[in-house]
Order: sequence, then C-alpha cells, then structure tokens
Amino acid sequence: MSQSNATLLPIDVVIMAAGKGTRMKSALPKVLHKLAGRPLLRHVIDTASSLSARSITVITGHGATEVERPLQDWMSHRGDISLKTVRQEPQLGTGHAVQQAVPVLPDDGVCLILNGDVPLIEVDTLRQLLADCAGERLALLTVDMPDPTGYGRIVRESGAVRAIIEHKDASEAQRQIAEIYTGVMALPNARLKAWLARLTNDNVQKEYYLTDIVKFAVADGAGVVGSKTADRVQVDGVNSPVQLAELERAYQLRVARRLMEQGVRLADPARFDLRGELICEQDVEIDVNCIFEGKVDLGEGVRIGANCVIANAHIAAGAVIHPFTHIEGEKLGVSVGPGALIGPFARLRPGADLGAEVHIGNFVEVKNSTLAKGAKANHLAYLGDATVGERVNYGAGSITANYDGANKHRTVIEDDVHVGSNCVLVAPVTLGKGGTVGGGSTITKDMPPGSLGVARGKQVNLANWNRPVKKKP
Ligand code: UD1
Ligand code: CA
Repeated sequence: MSQSNATLLPIDVVIMAAGKGTRMKSALPKVLHKLAGRPLLRHVIDTASSLSARSITVITGHGATEVERPLQDWMSHRGDISLKTVRQEPQLGTGHAVQQAVPVLPDDGVCLILNGDVPLIEVDTLRQLLADCAGERLALLTVDMPDPTGYGRIVRESGAVRAIIEHKDASEAQRQIAEIYTGVMALPNARLKAWLARLTNDNVQKEYYLTDIVKFAVADGAGVVGSKTADRVQVDGVNSPVQLAELERAYQLRVARRLMEQGVRLADPARFDLRGELICEQDVEIDVNCIFEGKVDLGEGVRIGANCVIANAHIAAGAVIHPFTHIEGEKLGVSVGPGALIGPFARLRPGADLGAEVHIGNFVEVKNSTLAKGAKANHLAYLGDATVGERVNYGAGSITANYDGANKHRTVIEDDVHVGSNCVLVAPVTLGKGGTVGGGSTITKDMPPGSLGVARGKQVNLANWNRPVKKKP
C-alpha cells in the first residue's frame, strides 16, 4: 500500500486506562490526576483528537465510573470523533485490556494504542508512528532509558525487532538492553485482532501481554518497525506523585521556552505555571511565581508582577498588574482595560469589567461590576454588582451592600462622583453625576446629580472632658 493511501486510512485510537496506579497512594484514579491543570487522560484524549481519528476507545477498570464521567464533556467540541468506553474487569494485563476493545474496533483502519498515564506524547510523534505503520506494519515507539528496569526490552537481531521481553521475563543479557517499549504502537486493526486472539498468559506475571504480539508479527512475516524517539518527556508515564511533579515541571519549562521564543519576557522560566491557554502580544513581561489558568490573553506591553494568579481574563495593552493580585474570571470573565493599574493585593472576580486607566489598589475586591475610564478604587474596598462611571473616586473602606440576604441588587455610581471613605452604599441605589458622599455615610436613598449625601450621626464635642483614670489598689 502506498504511503499516501495509508495516511488516508481511518485511525482508531485505543487508550489504556484500567490500571490501578497503586503508587499514587490516592483515592482518585491515576489518570484523573492533573498535570498543568488537566487530567492526565484528558491530555492524551486532546492529543489523539487532533489526529482527526475516527474513534477513541477508552479502556477503563479501576475507578471506571469516575473515569468515564467527564469523557463526554471533554469530547463535546470534537463532534465527528466517536467516543467509546469499554471496561476491563478484572485486569489481566495489557493484552487482555486491548482484547476488551476488539468488539468495538472495525476491521478496516489502523489502531493506535496509547496509555492514559503518558500525558505528554505529541501529535507529530504519533503521526510519524502512523507513517511508519503505513497501514500494514506493526510500528512500536521505543526509547533508550538510562535505567530500563521494569520496562519491556526491545530485542533486535541485525537491527530488526524480533520481540519485546518484559523485564520480569528477561534474561540477564536481555536486561542490559537500554531500548524499551514505551507502550505506544500502531498497527492494522485486522492484524491486531488476529494476534490478540493468540495471546496466552504463559509468563512470570501470568498476564496477557500486549507486547507478545510482536512475536506473532515476526512469525507471520509482517513488518515490525521500532521507531525510537529521543524525547523521554513525551513517553514518560506517571506512576507516583514524584513522577507527576517531574513531568509537570518538564511540561512547564517547554511552555515557558515557547513563550520566550515568541518574545515574552519571563523573569524565571522555572517559576512560571500555565494551566490553560495564554496568548501574549508583543513586549509582555511576567515576573516570578505567576500562575495562569483557563484562557488568558495579555495585550501589548502588559506587565505582570510577582506572585499573581490570573484565570480567564483579558488584560489590555499597557495594563500593569502589580504583585500578589488574584484575578479569577470563571465563566463571566474579567476584562482589564488599556493602561489600567491593578494591585498590589487586588482581587478581581467574575464579571469585573474595567475600562481604560482604571486604578484598583490594595485589598480592593471587584465582582460583576463595570468601571468606566479613569475610575479609581485605591484602598480596602468592595464593588459588587455596581456600574461605576468615568473618573469616579471610590474611597478607602467603602463597600456596596449588594446582597439583602436573598437577592442581589445594583449600585449605580454616575460619572465624576466622589465617594468618601468608609461608606456603605445599600443597593439598589443610584448616585447622580458629579455627586459627593460624605465619609462614613450609609447611603440608602438615591442622590440627585451634583448633591452631597451625608448619612451619619452628627459629631458632638463635649468641652473639658476628663478621661477615666486607673484606680489605685
Ligand atoms: C507495559 C509494557 C512494557 C512497557 C511499559 C511502558 C506490557 C506487557 N508491557 O508494562 O513493555 O515497557 O508498559 O510503560 O504491555 N493496563 C490496563 N489493564 C491491565 C494492565 C495495564 O489497562 O490489565 C494499563 C495501565 O493502566 C497502564 C498501561 O496499561 O496505563 C500500562 O500498564 P503498566 O502496568 O504500567 O505497564 P506494564 O504492564 O508494567
Ligand atoms: Ca503491569
């Protein structure tokens, strides 16, 4: 079969995810542990999806219901790929695992077998493996391991792959082989089915080894290709919290390097974390220990100070986010206008929509509120469900009382209003254009434009006041 026809063959991906993951020492199934904010299995599914496969079959076992629950949701935006799950109970080995998928695998097409706990495999590597398979061969992804203990060894004769021998079944000489099977292979569905039917558990572990199909392929004179990758990070599995953390860092360093190649200036690539998608325009600077989650985009010249956590936000050109700021847009998102100054220690919550040159200072919380151009809330304040006009100055310690215990209400502060310090604006309430609120006021009634609203006890000064003195014992 010619290469070009082979690449047109439908691809059926099978992902093994039935194993227990004992060494994670966790109640959570291993493949649901997160790397860069995404479950391990989701990394694999996302990568498989970008191959434009015909189907993806996930083999579940341990924690099956938990593992299966999020799958439909993950696939919801991948309309044309059919998602299937099959259960493997009990788990009698990797060959037994793939046998469970046989009833849902068509006879035509090529099967690509992946591991749910090998999260960082890249699509180009899989494409290369599929090209090596060429619709007819058994293509095995291999790698050289400095310490191959525990892995299946690639046994070659004059360069040609003859078998995979599991560590526990290997001779002392075979254990010296550094080239191991990564757990990823591609082969025609029809051959896979035929070879799976011939597996036995005649080995040290009494398991049905998927890797035994190599012997059948050799015996049948089918071509076997071992394609070696030099990139261990892509084929490293996660078995323990230590390995998970190591892969997380390896992934983050790759992301950091990619961003820096695009011109982003990271103060320290080792202290940068992306758990989602980050888009940066030119001349963005990011100081140490920042975490980006969900979808974040940073406009030209944006500067992010140290120790910020920013999720689901749009930060426009020239804005500066000072250290220790927490921005969490969730579904509504957060939008920061051009040239705005935020923080240090600010908190922007879902629906915070800040215009150009807005200033939000330390210990100020903004939720579901619009602040127009040049509005300022510089210290210790809360703005919730508020519409704030241009150039409004919102004093230290002031809050919108937006919640009556049952419902939320809106506060409208029109252009050029000056709200003094320590005011309570009891919503629903409107402060008319250009008005002033005296410090310490609790405002419950609308204020007409241009007025001064004061609502507090009048000050009384008692002359010659004698302070109490301490009694002698
Ligand atoms: C397997 C390979 C070995 C390879 C290694 C790479 C076999 C027999 N051996 O080793 O050559 O070097 O992977 O990591 O295939 N799983 C199931 N059901 C089972 C057993 C395993 O779904 O009954 C899943 C696990 O969840 C895991 C994957 O298969 O995702 C590999 O299993 P694991 O036990 O980690 O690998 P080994 O069998 O030791
Ligand atoms: Ca095993």
